[in-house]
Amino acid sequence: MTHASKVASKRLNQFLASAKPSATYKVIDRVAMRRAHGVNIISLSAGEPDFDTPVHVCEAGISAIRSGQTRYTQVAGLRALREAVAVKFERENGLKVDWHNTLVCNGGKQVIFNALAATLNQGDEVIVPAPYWVSYPEIVQLCGAQSVIISCGSDTGFKLTADALKAAITPRTRWLILNSPSNPTGAVYSRFELQALADVLLEHPQVLVLSDDIYEHLIFDDLEFFTIAQVEPRLCERVLTMNGVSKAYAMTGWRIGFGTGPAWLIEAMEKLQGQQTSGASTISQHAALAALTGPQDCIKQFRAAFQKRRDLVVKLLNEAPGLRCEVPQGAFYAFASCEGLIGKVSPAGTLLSTDEDVVNALLDETGVATVHGSAFGLAPYIRIAYALDDASLIKACEAIKQFCSSVR
Ligand SMILES: Cc1ncc(COP(=O)(O)O)c(C=O)c1O
Repeated sequence: MTHASKVASKRLNQFLASAKPSATYKVIDRVAMRRAHGVNIISLSAGEPDFDTPVHVCEAGISAIRSGQTRYTQVAGLRALREAVAVKFERENGLKVDWHNTLVCNGGKQVIFNALAATLNQGDEVIVPAPYWVSYPEIVQLCGAQSVIISCGSDTGFKLTADALKAAITPRTRWLILNSPSNPTGAVYSRFELQALADVLLEHPQVLVLSDDIYEHLIFDDLEFFTIAQVEPRLCERVLTMNGVSKAYAMTGWRIGFGTGPAWLIEAMEKLQGQQTSGASTISQHAALAALTGPQDCIKQFRAAFQKRRDLVVKLLNEAPGLRCEVPQGAFYAFASCEGLIGKVSPAGTLLSTDEDVVNALLDETGVATVHGSAFGLAPYIRIAYALDDASLIKACEAIKQFCSSVR
């Protein structure tokens, strides 16, 4: 650490000073820098659909601007959107939701941040199954609490088991975070698996559950999606079910997420949001309303396209010597073990000691950007986001295969 950064860190909030910037944004920055220098990069690192936001949704945003819907809304969101959110939770998840118990935020990320910041105190523990979305432990850290990471390897399909959960709960446990389909593995919890976790949770009334369902609609092979509040209604009073329009409707830039949970929690999150952002963009809320209440065919189209790409990418990755990739059941990520490459030397002569070395060598030597598994709490893996057209995916996977074949 330089002298200047030591001084700066003393001026910062202690929790922020020790939080890490998002690993995925770091890769995105590295890609942008190389592209600015004219280097051709295929990025398999971005966590967003490559499709355009559906036209009718864009039109709703434009028409909100044209009709003067440009002022603040209520902090918790437009009533019409909160009602549509309540209907969505009932229609798609079988949850009985009063619109008063919903909250609209600036993206799914802010729903999570609000929930944790509204409830955590120093010394509290949050159970985070690994591999995890990079932001969970950092948000917990920003709130001054402690993440209790449970490693969930390929032997359990990268999923938390009831026994592992039972062993991790202490009197200080405040939250369990669940994410299905998962970023980074694409793992999907079955009704049976969620019920087993719920049975453990019923015995520990101090534990709240954050169910991050943002990839709900990106689920393959006709698998059925379940969320824990639906599977075990007796937990409803302590589950925050979170979702949003970012991934389902290709609306990452519109920044709209939403959640439902017990009234006391939603009120606390609203109070926090009122002093923080005053609510989400009015224009985006009108667009999100059109997404939730308009035609839903884009969901089917996106899902079919992602499933085709998944099959393509997993097949090609499994042809690369040193890589091994399970078939993900949802989201748009493949999480491939690169154990077979560790300890070897890349074509340009770099020793590959870690998965981060593999990712850096892939970027430098083939122009393909991926993210290392250690950033998500499980090594040695690489995460490949297949939110890209088929031709680019084939080109990128062939370059990875060529790299792996030339490793010595
Ligand atoms: C697992 C997970 N949860 C939440 C989010 C945040 O979604 P949003 O863009 O709506 O904030 C992401 C985004 O990448 C994610 O991968």
